[in-house]
Amino acid sequence: MKITLSVIKADIGGYVGHSESHPDICSRANELLAKAKKEGLLIDYHVTKCGDDLELIMTHEHGEENRKIHKLAWDTFVQCTKLARKLKLYGAGQDLLADSFSGNVKGMGPGVAEMEFEERVAEPVIVFMADKTSAGGWNLPLYKMFADPFNTIGLVIAPTMHSGFSFEVHDVKESKKIVLNAPEEIYDLLVFIGAPSRYAVKAVYSRSANEIAAVSSTQKLSLIAGRYVGKDDPVCIVRCQGAFPAVGEVLEPFTTPHLVEGWMRGSHHGPLMPVSIPDSTPSRFDGPPRVTAAGFQLSSGKLVGPRDMFADKSFDLAREKANQVADYMRYHGPFEPHRLPLDEMEYTTMPQVAEKLKTRFKKI
Ligand code: 13P
Ligand code: 13P
Ligand code: MG
Ligand code: MG
Repeated sequence: MKITLSVIKADIGGYVGHSESHPDICSRANELLAKAKKEGLLIDYHVTKCGDDLELIMTHEHGEENRKIHKLAWDTFVQCTKLARKLKLYGAGQDLLADSFSGNVKGMGPGVAEMEFEERVAEPVIVFMADKTSAGGWNLPLYKMFADPFNTIGLVIAPTMHSGFSFEVHDVKESKKIVLNAPEEIYDLLVFIGAPSRYAVKAVYSRSANEIAAVSSTQKLSLIAGRYVGKDDPVCIVRCQGAFPAVGEVLEPFTTPHLVEGWMRGSHHGPLMPVSIPDSTPSRFDGPPRVTAAGFQLSSGKLVGPRDMFADKSFDLAREKANQVADYMRYHGPFEPHRLPLDEMEYTTMPQVAEKLKTRFKKI
């Protein structure tokens, strides 16, 4: 049976500041998706949050970029924004960049990751959700999951994985894409994805099974809006086991909290801390950036779960490490490399300050 797993998310208001979602917002979204399930549009759904982002996880049989599904998500965000305005939540409607729906939520502010596939006998999937960071934040973990044998032993010893994976990479500034094969082209691949502010891994495919393995949201909100509108706070769906990495191989990259863009005012580098869903409450300097993981077994499209994958004790050390790295990075205050380079900052006073001091700059 072919099913589509759609994860569509938006920040429609923060509680308090940018630190968390209000429980009433999640309840409202739950009511609206329950109605859509009852009416037969959805097979199943799960509403959750990561920090101040509202996450709609939905299964259905209508394929990717389906108008009805996208409209359902958009209308849900609009209804939740109404409630957010009533509660005067912070930045109500932050990620809704258009006034009305026009067929597809892509380019309208919300983040989208969708995949259509034939459900296997057992179909374990993990939905990763991040807050206070941007889409390129998945590059390093996806590379480790699907191309690094020191992370994924399956690449070496599992016959189903030994021929490797292909990576679809998007240039988010010039709206171009390229597909590169691992392992033969990993050095070429790394030239691009090692620069995550510009190149983001959109999807990964199994070369032996010719199947979708992972898909991420690559929207760059600031490029869509042409001005600062909050960080992208991306999502990523990964299929596990069989021709794909095992669940433990998929989670393993997050044991090292790598540095990502985002954090305070979307203008800093900081460690990506893996946390349980209730612990996705970025409060220290609006961070550090968080990642959560909701695991499901699919059963004819039914979402059996979620299991809160990072609630496990074995991620305690990663959280500890992330807190230490956060401290170390914070010491730099307004200095790079804690502060992002000038052209990557979401906020800047540089033009105004440079204009004000123009006449005081002398030739050297
Ligand atoms: P089981 O033998 O428990 O199915 O585990 C197989 C596996 O892939 C573990 O990584
Ligand atoms: P969000 O993108 O999560 O709304 O965060 C914005 C911000 O500026 C945090 O300091
Ligand atoms: Mg926000
Ligand atoms: Mg957010």
